[in-house]
Amino acid sequence: MSDTAGGRDWQSHPPYLFADYRSTALRAPTRPLIPIKHCLSEMTGPVYGHEAVAPLDADLTRNARRNGEPLGERIIVTGRVLDEEGRPVRDTLIEVWQANAAGRYVHLTDRHDAPLDPNFLGAGRCVTDEKGRYRFYTIKPGAYPWANHANAWRPLHIHFSLLGPSIAARLVTQMYFPGDPLLAYDPIYLGAPEGARERLVSRFDLAMTEPDFALGYVFDMVLRGRGETPFESRV
Ligand SMILES: [Fe+2]
Repeated sequence: MSDTAGGRDWQSHPPYLFADYRSTALRAPTRPLIPIKHCLSEMTGPVYGHEAVAPLDADLTRNARRNGEPLGERIIVTGRVLDEEGRPVRDTLIEVWQANAAGRYVHLTDRHDAPLDPNFLGAGRCVTDEKGRYRFYTIKPGAYPWANHANAWRPLHIHFSLLGPSIAARLVTQMYFPGDPLLAYDPIYLGAPEGARERLVSRFDLAMTEPDFALGYVFDMVLRGRGETPFESRV
């Protein structure tokens, strides 16, 4: 397979099949992909209404409150969406989802024996501004076990989806936290090529913290080029 087979830069993105990440064996294509040219409908058709996004949607510490504050360490996650020239990409709908501080998702199939938090849903969204910036308030997610292999634990992570101007322009990735010892054992993180996977790790930035309130982490996402972010979905 060439470095750009299927129009994808395999120096940056994880392969469809990565033996240590077991479920990729079930979903990886077994034959070469057939490129299908995007039609006008995919390029210009209806996309999620960016105007429906409200400021509270970007605050996961408040957007699902019922009777109090969510438990855990409050953090700010912020950064920019950039193109290959480092130019900001505005009006990108960013959606995030994550486990709560105990490592539990609000999802029917999550059977991890850890408590749900009645004040934390773990989902949020916002739209990048004219400088490509986004900003979320949330709770630092906990690690959780998964059935990939014996004693498998996911490192702390937040899932990201980016939606551009058309329904065909969706990218999905995960953001990690610096210094997490579980990164060295995680086949999803290790599935991204060496030299690229480090771009998935956010950077702690004291300047981004809010004194007496929340710590700040910076995670920029680059859509293409030498510094592109590894994406799980096709570019
Ligand atoms: Fe996850």
